[in-house]
Amino acid sequence: MRTKVDGDTIVRWGERFDPFHDPYLADPYPFLEEARAATAVFYSADLDYWVVTRYHDIRQIFQTPKRFSATNTLAPLQPICPAAGHLLAEGGFRPVPTLTNSDPPGHTRVRRLATIAFTPRRVAAMEPLVRELTAQSVEKRLSSGRADLIRDLAWDLPALVIFRVLGIPDEDVARVKAGAESRLLLMWGRPTEDDQIRLVQGMAAFWRYAEMLVASRAEHGRDDFTSDLLRARDGDLPALTHQEVTQIVYELLFAGHETTTGLIGNALRRLLAARDAWEEICGDSSLIPNAIEEVLRFDSSVIAWRRKTTEAVEIGGVSIPADANLLLLLGSANHDPAVFENPEHFDIHRQNAKEHLSLGFGAHYCLGAPLARLEARVVLEELSTRLPSLRLTPEQTLHFQPNTTFRGPLSLLVEWDI
Ligand code: HEM
Repeated sequence: MRTKVDGDTIVRWGERFDPFHDPYLADPYPFLEEARAATAVFYSADLDYWVVTRYHDIRQIFQTPKRFSATNTLAPLQPICPAAGHLLAEGGFRPVPTLTNSDPPGHTRVRRLATIAFTPRRVAAMEPLVRELTAQSVEKRLSSGRADLIRDLAWDLPALVIFRVLGIPDEDVARVKAGAESRLLLMWGRPTEDDQIRLVQGMAAFWRYAEMLVASRAEHGRDDFTSDLLRARDGDLPALTHQEVTQIVYELLFAGHETTTGLIGNALRRLLAARDAWEEICGDSSLIPNAIEEVLRFDSSVIAWRRKTTEAVEIGGVSIPADANLLLLLGSANHDPAVFENPEHFDIHRQNAKEHLSLGFGAHYCLGAPLARLEARVVLEELSTRLPSLRLTPEQTLHFQPNTTFRGPLSLLVEWDI
C-alpha cells in the first residue's frame, strides 16, 4: 500500500528546487538523489509545476496519455509578457499541435505520416555524411593539440546533419542555431521581459524560415525529408497540411540538433573523465553503442520533460488536481536505484543502461533516436581512432544554459599529443 506523503515534505522540496542556478545547474544529481529518496512528487510554487522524481511513475505517465496529456510540452514554462506575445503574433508565428505537443488521435495520424517520411533508410544513408562532416571538423579545427570540443565539433555537426535531412543549405547554420537558442531560453528558461522581447524576434524569424522552406518544397519537391512529409500518404488518413509540415520542420530545426550537441558534449565529458572507459573504447569500438546508452542514462541531454493531468490523479501517494502541470525529472528516473544498481556509478558495461527514459517512452518516443545514436557513435568512433590521447584540460569550469530541460556543457576544453 502507498503511504501518503505529508504536505510539508512536498512544499519543502519545492522551495529547494531552483533549476536555473547553481548548484543545480552545475550538477543536479545530488539534489535529485535526495529529493527522489524523500518523495515521489513535490510542488514548486515558484514554477507552479508538480515535479515527479521516480522511474516507475514517470514511465507510467508516459504510457497513459488519457490521464497525462502532452499538450504543454512546448509551451513557455512561464507565461510570456503581453508585449512579447504581441511581437510573436505580428512576426507570423502560427504554431499548430502536431507531434510532440499533441495527444491521440491527432498525434497518431501525424506520427504515422512522419514515420513514413523519416525512414530507417534515410537515417542509415546519413552515416557516410556524418563521418565525412566529423572528419572535416577534425582535420580543419583539431590540429593544434588543443580545442574546445563544443565550439569546434559538437555545436554545428548535428545541425549540418539535420539540415541535409530537411534540405537546408549549410550556410544557414549560425542563423538556425541562434533561433534555436532563443527558443530554448524562452520556452524552458526564465528570461526577463526585456530578454523575452529580444528572444521572440529570433523565434518568429525561426518560424518564418521553416514556413519558407515548406513553401519552396511544395512548389518544387526534392529528395529530402521536407518534400517527403508533403508527399506522405497512409490509406485514408488526411495528408499533412503545409502548416503541419512547417511545425514539424520547426520542431526538427530545434530537436534535431540542440539535444544531440548536448549528447555529444556529455559523452565526451564523461568518457574522458573516466579514463579507463575512454581507453576501453579506443581499444574496442564495439563498446561504443552501450557507452552511449550509459551516457544517456547517467548524464542525459534532456533531463526533464512535461505533461499535464487531464483529471485528478494520485502519484506515489501524492494527490494532484486535474489540469496540473507536471515536470517529469528524467535525469532523476535514470538514477533511480529501483531500476539501476549503483546508479551514481558511470559504467559503460551496464547491462540495462538502455532502459533510461532520456528519449521518452511510449507513443511519443523520440522520432530522432536512431539519428542521435548514429551521430554520437560516429563521432566517438572517429575521435577514439584519430585522437586516442585526447584528455580534458584540467581545472576547467563547465557552464550550462539556465533552463529546466536541455543539458550539455557550453564548452569542453581538451588537449592531446601531436
Ligand atoms: C540525444 C538526443 C535526443 C534526446 C535526448 C531526445 C529526447 C526526446 C524526448 C524526451 C522526447 C519526448 C518524448 C515524449 O514526449 O514522450 C522526444 C521526442 C521527439 N524527438 Fe527527440 N531527442 C533527441 C534527438 C532527436 C533528434 C536528432 C530528432 C530529429 C531528428 C528528434 C526529434 C524528436 C521528435 C520529432 C519528437 C516528438 C515525437 C512525437 O511526439 O511523436 N529528437 N525526444
